[in-house]
Amino acid sequence: MVEVKNLSKSFEGRMVLHDIDAVFETGKTNLIIGRSGSGKTVLLKNIIGLMRPDTGEILYDGRELIGMNKKELNVLRREMGMLFQGSALFDSMTVLENVMFPLNMFSNDSYKEREKRAMFCLDRVNLLDAEHLYPSEISGGMMKRAAIARAISLNPKYLFCDEPNSGLDPKTSLIIDELIHSITKDYKMTTIINTHDMNSVINIGENIVFIKEGIKEWQGDNHQVMTAKNQALNDFIFASDLFRKIKAVENQPEEG
Ligand SMILES: Nc1ncnc2c1ncn2[C@@H]1O[C@H](COP(=O)(O)OP(=O)(O)OP(=O)(O)O)[C@@H](O)[C@H]1O
Ligand SMILES: [Mg+2]
Repeated sequence: MVEVKNLSKSFEGRMVLHDIDAVFETGKTNLIIGRSGSGKTVLLKNIIGLMRPDTGEILYDGRELIGMNKKELNVLRREMGMLFQGSALFDSMTVLENVMFPLNMFSNDSYKEREKRAMFCLDRVNLLDAEHLYPSEISGGMMKRAAIARAISLNPKYLFCDEPNSGLDPKTSLIIDELIHSITKDYKMTTIINTHDMNSVINIGENIVFIKEGIKEWQGDNHQVMTAKNQALNDFIFASDLFRKIKAVENQPEEG
């Protein structure tokens, strides 16, 4: 479980996150949703320690991030897997070498063991055939899967994904969502995903934090999201025509 308490962040006197409180649960795909510029990436960067909040606490299963010394921070870093906007694979490395990279950096296992672990992760994302290919030789969806394999290579307790579906078609996005969801369940990870993809909200929104202009407006799950009374949330959700139509159908009185 990751807890954020009273987290605020400003840039040059402009407040971008206002006193955010949120709980991200273990074994669930937790989503941070909101419009472009609402503060999702800044929040995620604060959570993973890439940015320091002005005020507030971030607790990793009770362990407070801000006050950690270098050694404690290194322990925590090893428990985190990350998937950033774009897949950020190394172009000069094969898919297998990319997945082995964190293992080479952080693991004391033998080469054979590291390779075996990397192949296991590639199998998990259904990408064994692509092990010898370079990022330029595979599709965007395959790149995302390779990046997921790399993110889980060290068997993280916490997985962070910033817009994992950006640039993917709806079908491929669904495959990536399902993959992240099933990996989260299998390894009981605490997964936090930034997204504005409404399909993701509906499909894997087990715990959703909605932020608007840096303020947490609402928290709930994908069932509650469709009937929530929060105006800002509704404006966000039903900005898409499709979802407005779904809502209209659901609200129609039954015949008979
Ligand atoms: N390093 C920075 N310095 C100054 N302002 C920043 C910095 N990083 C982000 N911001 C500002 O903080 C606000 C929130 O940005 P953020 O990137 O978190 O939005 P977002 O919700 O992730 O948007 P998107 O959906 O487009 O990725 C924006 O107004 C942005 O300009
Ligand atoms: Mg962002």
